[in-house]
Amino acid sequence: MQDMYDQPKYKPFAQSALFADGNSSRPLPPDSVPFASGPFAGTSSGRSGENEVAQDKAALAAKTNPYPVTLQLLRRGQERYSIYCLPCHSPAGDGDGLVARRGFPHPPSYHSERLRQAPDRHFFDVMSNGYGIMHSYADRVAPPDRWAIVAYIRALQLSQNADAKRLPPDAREHLASSGQGGRP
Ligand code: HEC
Repeated sequence: MQDMYDQPKYKPFAQSALFADGNSSRPLPPDSVPFASGPFAGTSSGRSGENEVAQDKAALAAKTNPYPVTLQLLRRGQERYSIYCLPCHSPAGDGDGLVARRGFPHPPSYHSERLRQAPDRHFFDVMSNGYGIMHSYADRVAPPDRWAIVAYIRALQLSQNADAKRLPPDAREHLASSGQGGRP
């Protein structure tokens, strides 16, 4: 069987006698933006990044977050969220990010009852496929990172909707002395 991976082809930046500049890579037309979509955007024929592809496949198939929610996962999620989601969704996830303040339609708040009840997979799918006017993040956020972001969004939701009784005693004291009381 012919393996299409092993065929005559130019690798990136290889020389070529075909073009006057001697370069097989063609210059990009002005104002072009690199863009790849789909679950395996950023991998090559499944060979470069084989481990990532295996991990991606598992993460893509998962119905709920397949990773244990550790501090490390939350930190990764926070970092990725801050890069890719926060500009519109805001640090607290209420949809009042700077991009929205400058005129882009406001995203819905993560703290609505509907999105509190939405399954993990819904957030994952929104990142993978886009939603309404929101673009897909499939080519920028790898599937395992999408789950890290989901875990972080769950933490954000908890941060705005926690039962005061579940807080550690010193945090409860702080809350009481700040006069905010928290939810009964
Ligand atoms: C450029 C601004 C922008 C960025 C960046 C952005 N979003 Fe959104 N997001 C939106 C808008 C606008 C909507 C509402 C879309 C609609 O209803 O048409 C939305 C909707 C959503 C929803 C709600 C879907 C529902 O059920 O109503 C979720 C969840 C979401 N985004 C997650 C994310 C995550 C996670 C990221 C980061 C990977 C992200 N968004 C990045 C603008 C953005």
